[in-house]
Amino acid sequence: TGNTTLDPGYTNTASCESSITFIDGAKGILRYRGYPIDQLAEKATFLEVAHLLIYGQLPTDDELSEFTDRITTRSMLDERMRDLFRCFPRRSHPMQVLASGVNALATFNADALDPHDPEHVESATIRLLAQMPTLAAYAYKNSVGDPFLYPQRRLGYVENFLRLSFGNPTEEYELDPAVVRAFETLFILHADHEQNCSTSTVRMVGSSQANMYASVAAGVNALSGPLHGGANQAVLEMLGHIRDEGLDAKSFLDKVKDKSSGVKLMGFGHRVYKNFDPRAVIIKKHAHEILSAAGKSNKLLDIALELEEIALEDDYFVERKLYPNVDFYTGLIYEAMGFPTSYFTALFALGRLPGWIAQWREQLADPAGKIGRPRQVYIGEPERDYPSK
Ligand code: CMC
Repeated sequence: TGNTTLDPGYTNTASCESSITFIDGAKGILRYRGYPIDQLAEKATFLEVAHLLIYGQLPTDDELSEFTDRITTRSMLDERMRDLFRCFPRRSHPMQVLASGVNALATFNADALDPHDPEHVESATIRLLAQMPTLAAYAYKNSVGDPFLYPQRRLGYVENFLRLSFGNPTEEYELDPAVVRAFETLFILHADHEQNCSTSTVRMVGSSQANMYASVAAGVNALSGPLHGGANQAVLEMLGHIRDEGLDAKSFLDKVKDKSSGVKLMGFGHRVYKNFDPRAVIIKKHAHEILSAAGKSNKLLDIALELEEIALEDDYFVERKLYPNVDFYTGLIYEAMGFPTSYFTALFALGRLPGWIAQWREQLADPAGKIGRPRQVYIGEPERDYPSK
């Protein structure tokens, strides 16, 4: 109709101008606010990166300690949120509980909901960063039936989250610095990725001037799908299936190549990266380090390496420029750290949160910002009359 252009999946339509994240998919470049991802992954902390994404600059030491203090003092949830968790069946998926929890948080934060009041926006920013890890940990504790712990102010962001997930009230939780650092890195690698499905969702919901909680809850739901963040869970299930069924990598890939099977090589392919995913390169290195530190050979890692090796030489994958993406190796690391498979995508959500917030705020501040409202090409019936009876 008129000059409307059809672009399913928005493969070629820019929805906004943004100065947060730069990607060059052909060259495998990813930068946050101009800083190369490998430098940030190696040197920065997650909260530094969150500050960078949201406010545009790396924090000074004073700014970082103030930012950190504001977050750690806000990490407890209202006690009534416990009743919410009790409502969910024991084995509820953590992503469903997390999305519901983020929505529910809005009801406890009436003074953080007005997108036009900068103080509200700032409060929502800090409280979401502070409370999402607590929510995610409680979603997990609820699924296994363990008691909830309270966050501790003396602990760092990642330390607190690990203790809330794995600690118990009867003994001191021992933190492994190598695991903490690995987590900082993983969270940093997930922190933003310009206009991916969940971020576009956050922007779309925010464009109606819905509050930040409503927008982020929508982002969590968008992330949950297996073609997006849910891929990290799907990869591990795929590797487990290959191991348990005693399949060999080559015949599994033959099945993938036979389109009629409907089977995909999960953790492979990307809309933007057509050469390599720079995050996957860093993660693969960590997977090797962490799994070899665990000291035992890991059958699932062996299968992943073999699938990758064969796929990278195979015409089907070469012609379509399919490479391992961020999700291919993360699940193996999370599993080695003791996280159950169903928890993986919630970890992605925690990492992506600063990006969602930064993008939501950027859109709000954009003078050219408009409500998101794509057009369509109508292909249904022409006008017809209601039948006379
Ligand atoms: N296994 C087998 N074939 C694939 C795969 C795969 N993983 N990915 C793409 N293809 C094929 C696809 O069938 C198509 O073939 P043809 O041209 O013959 O029709 C071609 O490659 C192009 O793929 P597409 O589906 O048009 O590409 P897209 O940009 O629409 O989709 C994707 C990108 C990531 C959804 C897709 O590659 C995929 O489904 N991958 C598996 C799921 C996954 O790992 N998702 C995580 C993405 S990265 C992080 C995140 O967002 O969470």
